[in-house]
Amino acid sequence: MPSNFSRREVLRLLSFLSAGAAGVGSVPFISSLVNKANAQTSSVYVRENIATFMQSPAKIAALREGVRVMQSRSSNDPTSWIYQANMHGIPRNESRRLTAWGTCNHGSFFFFPWHRMYVYYFERILRQASGDPTLALPYWNYSDFPDQRPLPEPFRNRLLPDGSTNSLYVEQRAPGINQGTTALASAEVSYSAAFQRTNFFHTSSGQQSFGGRRATSSMHRGSGGGLLEGRPHNQVHVVVGGSNGWMRQVEMAARDPIFWLHHSNIDRLWGRWLSLGGGRANPLNDRDWMDDRFTFFNENGDRVTMRGRDIIDTVQQLNYRYDDAPLGNQMLVS
Ligand code: C2O
Repeated sequence: MPSNFSRREVLRLLSFLSAGAAGVGSVPFISSLVNKANAQTSSVYVRENIATFMQSPAKIAALREGVRVMQSRSSNDPTSWIYQANMHGIPRNESRRLTAWGTCNHGSFFFFPWHRMYVYYFERILRQASGDPTLALPYWNYSDFPDQRPLPEPFRNRLLPDGSTNSLYVEQRAPGINQGTTALASAEVSYSAAFQRTNFFHTSSGQQSFGGRRATSSMHRGSGGGLLEGRPHNQVHVVVGGSNGWMRQVEMAARDPIFWLHHSNIDRLWGRWLSLGGGRANPLNDRDWMDDRFTFFNENGDRVTMRGRDIIDTVQQLNYRYDDAPLGNQMLVS
């Protein structure tokens, strides 16, 4: 890995130090910071297309194990499968209201940042639960490759060949999806309408944008969804869920393991849209988008908060990239 810093990292280091850095300005401190930055560059997790990820039995086994371990934890534990899913939406029969439950952001320009944060912390929890320190969440690329439009095979069967339970399977999907006989249709997964837009957000109903209508604070179920939230995002939810499966319902969707690969892909499409340029940009001057705080939990079960400004550059700030994103592409976003 490169041992030299980019100009950007040097600037960040300098501004960090000149801001006082909590009063620690000694040389050992600087060198530990340098080491930390190097360690970070050398451990960028790569989110891989499930079509290639699933060629590795070890990777699929780690994914299954992480899901299984999370599912075995008590629903009061923030690192459990159910707690994480309930952060997205609270099932109708659930009377508890634990911290950050029911806080997903839909129908506004917080859709993209909130889900990036959500998937990021989920991935950290999953990695730790899996016991595989190299595990990164794969993505489901239904849009770019027609042969990838059926549900990926590792998610389809209730039992594995050895008779054990497949933690990636849930019954609550459209039957044809689980059988692999229903594929998503190209019209359902097309992002071209969304990608033609150059504006990230819009401000009044009747307008359209890539990322949704402006809001001043968290919007759980707004009505100003952006074009990409509509398609492919909502379409995939509806088709996978069928008439009343989990993916169809905001309250239940994140209980289906495929939810996370779907959202990994949606997050990837955000980066791809930005990389087209032509004025496409994140709303870096919008104070609400940049500074509003959302609550999550890390892999130790500690409560954490994040703001839009914390998740703009996935490599520098969150330590991950997508396998088809040229290194440095993320720089275009800031
Ligand atoms: Cu918060 Cu795909 O939904």
